[in-house]
Amino acid sequence: PLPRPYEVPLPVPSRLAPVSTSGAADVYELTQRPARLRILPGLETDAWTYDGTFPGPTIVSRSGRRTVVRHRNELPRPTVVHLHGGHTPYGSDGYPTALLLPRNSTAGTAGAAGMAGMPGMSGAGDAQDTAAGQRTYTYPMEQRAATLWYHDHRMGFTGPNVWHGLAGFHLVHDDEEEALPLPAGERDIPLLIADRSFAADGSFQYPALDAGQRTAGVTDRYMDGVLGDVVLVNGAPWPVLETQRLRYRLRLLNGSNARRYRLALDPAPPGGGALVQIGGDGGLLERPLAHDTLDIAPAERFDVVVDFARYRPGTRVRLVNRLGSGGTATVMRFDVSGARPPADDSRVPDRLSTIPAPRADRAAATRTFRFQRRAGSGWTINGRPYEPGRPLATVRLGTTEVWRFVTDFHHPVHLHLNHFQVTARNGRSPGPYDAGWKDTVDLRPAESVEIVTRFTDYPGRFLLHCHNLEHEDMGMMADFVTE
Ligand code: C2O
Ligand code: CU
Repeated sequence: PLPRPYEVPLPVPSRLAPVSTSGAADVYELTQRPARLRILPGLETDAWTYDGTFPGPTIVSRSGRRTVVRHRNELPRPTVVHLHGGHTPYGSDGYPTALLLPRNSTAGTAGAAGMAGMPGMSGAGDAQDTAAGQRTYTYPMEQRAATLWYHDHRMGFTGPNVWHGLAGFHLVHDDEEEALPLPAGERDIPLLIADRSFAADGSFQYPALDAGQRTAGVTDRYMDGVLGDVVLVNGAPWPVLETQRLRYRLRLLNGSNARRYRLALDPAPPGGGALVQIGGDGGLLERPLAHDTLDIAPAERFDVVVDFARYRPGTRVRLVNRLGSGGTATVMRFDVSGARPPADDSRVPDRLSTIPAPRADRAAATRTFRFQRRAGSGWTINGRPYEPGRPLATVRLGTTEVWRFVTDFHHPVHLHLNHFQVTARNGRSPGPYDAGWKDTVDLRPAESVEIVTRFTDYPGRFLLHCHNLEHEDMGMMADFVTE
């Protein structure tokens, strides 16, 4: 029994408190454990969670201040944690074979057995605490304010692990952003949008190849990715938020495995342009960009300001998905209060930040990566399914490169380590959703996209992959080496 839309109040993930803050770093602890969630009326859903909730608690970092997160694994399976959008050294980036083993595991338990025989099992050079059951991830946070998120990244099993609940927000703040008069506090709300399917008993339904989840990938029907028929926002089905007639900052994250959304407000306010984008994956844009609709692919973030004072008191404003049908055509609702609001102390300045022009002319190399489905080998990049330790590129730190992504199909392409700027789509100027610093760019069938990125620091082995999580698990991922 599915709930009726707009009955559950929007949950906002709680903020994780540090266990210590010293001069040099803030230290956090998270326990990955099974939990029973109440998502559907009268039913319980067994989830795999960070600290018992989905989304996990929100971590809030200060730019330039080291953040240390100690993860304990009390799940019955190995995991890997990746900070998506983090400019993170190799040892803490969540390389897909750098496993966090379950606490009570010995080699040969169900979870570990699934990895036997997989290449690159040695732990990928992580110099940190790898005692079974615990792993420490250190994030220097030498990066600007942005909406990041952390999620599972275990080789071959990222799709099921995220589907079952292993995802949360990690926000970075800095002085530049805080000096702006943007909506803040309770009017700065992260929204993790993710579709899921449920079995009749309320459990998450995921088309794994075997019940014990020992085999990577999904059944043939789901080669294009796993879609759900219920849209959750911050873990609640089609929730509702009562808003005042004031500006709100909404940090939109598409945390879905494979679904794309075309988001719009319905009704649109008079004059349109309701979704005023102020930021993207990598933080503030140079100037705000007003959109009527927003196309958001898996893993992308759009930071928008919505001014509910543009609506009459009492208006019910749905956030809809123009690419969906039935239950997936709607996301949530904002009920605009009839009460007289206090004066709005926020606004969206015409100028938000400074973003240096991309210097493609200074590129030390131009590379092409083809994202393709190949008969016999599944989803590939440059004809090869993922193989840890066999990089498709070696780049020199201190250089700028142009990377060209070419596809046969729809693929949200994600780069670890660096943010980038999109400089061309099909040889023309970038699209309306390509502005600012990005770490994920959506490629449509038969498109080619050109990005420019600069490799500044952190030697090691990093990933380029499709963020359709089923494509990723089935091999559409590649290593690149920085040296
Ligand atoms: Cu959001 Cu390689 O991941
Ligand atoms: Cu893909």
